[in-house]
Amino acid sequence: MIIGSPLTPSATKVMLLGSGELGKEVIIALQRYGVEVIAVDRYENAPGHQVAHRAHTIDMTDAAALKALVNQEKPHLIVPEIEALNTDALAEIERDGTTVIPTVKAVQLTMNREGIRRLAAETLKLPTSPYAFARSEAELQAAIDAGIGYPCFIKPTMSSSGKGQSRVTQASEVKTAWDYAASGGRVNQGVVIVEGQIAFDYEITLLTVRAKNAQGEIQTYFCEPIGHVQEKGDYVESWQPQVMTAEALKSAQHVAKTITDALGGLGLFGVELFVKGDQVWFSEVSPRPHDTGMVTMCSQRLSEFELHARAILGLPVDVAMTNPGASAVIYGGVESQNLSYAGVEQALAIPNTDIRLFGKPESFTRRRMGVALATASNTDQARTNAKLAASLVKPKA
Ligand SMILES: Nc1ncnc2c1ncn2[C@@H]1O[C@H](COP(=O)(O)OP(=O)(O)O)[C@@H](O)[C@H]1O
Ligand SMILES: [Mg+2]
Repeated sequence: MIIGSPLTPSATKVMLLGSGELGKEVIIALQRYGVEVIAVDRYENAPGHQVAHRAHTIDMTDAAALKALVNQEKPHLIVPEIEALNTDALAEIERDGTTVIPTVKAVQLTMNREGIRRLAAETLKLPTSPYAFARSEAELQAAIDAGIGYPCFIKPTMSSSGKGQSRVTQASEVKTAWDYAASGGRVNQGVVIVEGQIAFDYEITLLTVRAKNAQGEIQTYFCEPIGHVQEKGDYVESWQPQVMTAEALKSAQHVAKTITDALGGLGLFGVELFVKGDQVWFSEVSPRPHDTGMVTMCSQRLSEFELHARAILGLPVDVAMTNPGASAVIYGGVESQNLSYAGVEQALAIPNTDIRLFGKPESFTRRRMGVALATASNTDQARTNAKLAASLVKPKA
């Protein structure tokens, strides 16, 4: 791998499609290797825009706009950070010789719950929750009655971060859940997945890296498992390591290797799994850094973002955890286009903590605006300190 100098004809150019808080950290990691970075998002002054060589604001679901920008910038690598992209345009761009991370196929399959679920459960025979797809409220009710049962989760097939998602415990709630899912999806509104609830003991993200080894072959590496808590389908805190039985860890790594081998390419993946005792179920996978993986900014020698940057550049990785850690989300709490943050000094007075404020120009009550990080000798203490630090940061309109 030869890296050029940014802003010269030799530059190694990487374009981020989506430049939120996760993209921002990938950009910073790439900048440290002297890569020229082009940040793209759908709104101005997105977090990643603020740390890139150039920033563009376009509608990334618009094929013509996407192709025109790629043609103008001519990046060597395209790194999707979000799911809402025009994948037909990406497929053309890949065919014309630009690498899309990890692969366009992976981006296409994972942006749609139907694609990834059928691949995992039907092609790869991995254990998942029982599921069905429904195109009407009647089909949905029929699928629940035919065996999915209650409680179940109803989700748009094209959505993330819990958008349009409900947990339903009885027939009287199905109509509301259908309406919510049918309106909460992205592109193919009106197709929902219904999943039987897995009564898990805990859920994890297994960060899995496909990177080149010393022989130049692609090898699969696993970070220590990350435990997390979700509220309404959105992550509120995470920690590393999550203690697992040896058997469960082995199964988790097997599932993660199988699904990431099928998706292919180079890069870091966030494999979401449910665990009960020694049993493991595949839930979903992001072909990119995962929000719950922000904890690795304090718990690993190389964060998930640095691992992604290295892997996509064809560089060797080191997935070692250095110490137990935790992350806790800082929400906006108010709607504002002029937010400021009090209490950062109180938060940082807690030993072994750190704060990341993403710099988003607009805040909503439940918008993730920052994250608190904490290390400690065990994850319980790290979680306590991360949550305390997050609570001390007071966003003000
Ligand atoms: N079938 C299920 N059984 C148990 N919990 C579930 C199930 N589906 C979703 N959940 C809970 O909801 C969270 C969000 O669901 P997920 O499918 O990951 O949606 P998103 O793509 O929005 O992250 C999961 O992390 C888990 O806590
Ligand atoms: Mg998820």
